[in-house]
Amino acid sequence: MDDRTFRGGNYAAELQAPEVYAMRRRRLAEAVGRGTIVVWGAGDDRGYGDVGTFRQDSNFFYLTGVELPNAVLVLRPSEELEALFLPARQEALERWTGPKWGPGDEAAKALGFDRVLALEAGEVELEARRRPVPGFEQRLQGWLSEPAAELWTPLPGAGVDDELPFVLRLIARLRDRLPGFAVHDLSDRIAALRLIKDEGEVALMRQAVAATIAGHRRAASMIRPGVWEGAIDGAVYAAFREAGAEGIAFPSIVGSGFASTVLHYDQNVGTLQDGDLVVVDIGARYGYYCGDLTRTYPVNGRFNERQRAVYELVLAAHDAVAAAIRPGVTLGELRKIAYDIIEGSSLTDAEGNHLGRYFIHGIGHFLGLDAHDSGGEGPRLEPGMVITDEPGIYIPDEALGVRIEDDYLVTPDGAECLSKDLPTTVEAIEAMLHA
Ligand code: GLY
Ligand code: MN
Ligand code: MN
Repeated sequence: MDDRTFRGGNYAAELQAPEVYAMRRRRLAEAVGRGTIVVWGAGDDRGYGDVGTFRQDSNFFYLTGVELPNAVLVLRPSEELEALFLPARQEALERWTGPKWGPGDEAAKALGFDRVLALEAGEVELEARRRPVPGFEQRLQGWLSEPAAELWTPLPGAGVDDELPFVLRLIARLRDRLPGFAVHDLSDRIAALRLIKDEGEVALMRQAVAATIAGHRRAASMIRPGVWEGAIDGAVYAAFREAGAEGIAFPSIVGSGFASTVLHYDQNVGTLQDGDLVVVDIGARYGYYCGDLTRTYPVNGRFNERQRAVYELVLAAHDAVAAAIRPGVTLGELRKIAYDIIEGSSLTDAEGNHLGRYFIHGIGHFLGLDAHDSGGEGPRLEPGMVITDEPGIYIPDEALGVRIEDDYLVTPDGAECLSKDLPTTVEAIEAMLHA
């Protein structure tokens, strides 16, 4: 296999060492301590000629560093067993989607696993004879027929359509054949590990943030009346790729005028108008890790008096939150700090209402392999967590939206702003537009 180009089907900008993923698997196995742990990779239904991009499931990637489609990870803590199941290589399909590692020793060595087994039942050549080999489902059935068997797997929601997700259908099938095994949702156990970033993850997040900053600088260099939002979106993407990133962590938001008040506007089809603000909320993905940074720019290069007042209020909330990030606080508590500043200001809307009602979202979220990493507002912050701080005020009647978003690594005594190289003050933002 040509490693230089295809890397066995792994395309991330950078991976961590195989030992790092192996250590995460050990930690998960220790945390659960029993039963059969199964983690599913994402499927790839592009087949022969459908277009689209494969992206590995974040939990699976976290535990394996493997981007191959339709893969399954199994851990059996009681016997220290770990196995990666891969589909057999399909050379005709590889003409469409590129060469991939398949089952066997070569892949096991390259990917850092004891065993890489065939997903489907079949046979292998052993000592010059063909031998039958059980596929994944038969092996799983064997493990789950033990007394007091437990299956630990991330459980998807039932969804809104009629068809049950694949994992739930498999469990139902197994239950038909087996007397009874317990099923436990593994999602929270993996989420707990993912919340605390190791050094290698932080290094990748710094790269994602650096690429995102490059995107902002490129966007700022283009902002002026008459420019199409879509052209800025495209230039941001080019800047991400030139910085080595795989692409976007989420669809870029380039919203000017009224669209600056629409939180997840990502159509980017308007034209920048003299006198408007433009919210640019973008994130590069590097080594699968996400950046997520927002700046709000005046299209003509200068904030007017009202825009400046609202901008400085959002900035005051942003800075107060930044100063309060430390181990022990929650995102909910941080939001209250921002809300109190916005609501407590003498600035009002046309009816005389204070502006707290225009801060319509949370203060931020955990950031990592997903732009919105799981965790919600609940967990108390701990060193190694990465969060965003992104207060905003959105007044549709004035077509005036402002959001300022930075990414923070929680440290033992506070926080490090990973995106401190991208300025926030009125003067610095205006200077970026005139650079
Ligand atoms: N770009 C989505 C967010 O900031 O949460
Ligand atoms: Mn964002
Ligand atoms: Mn965000």
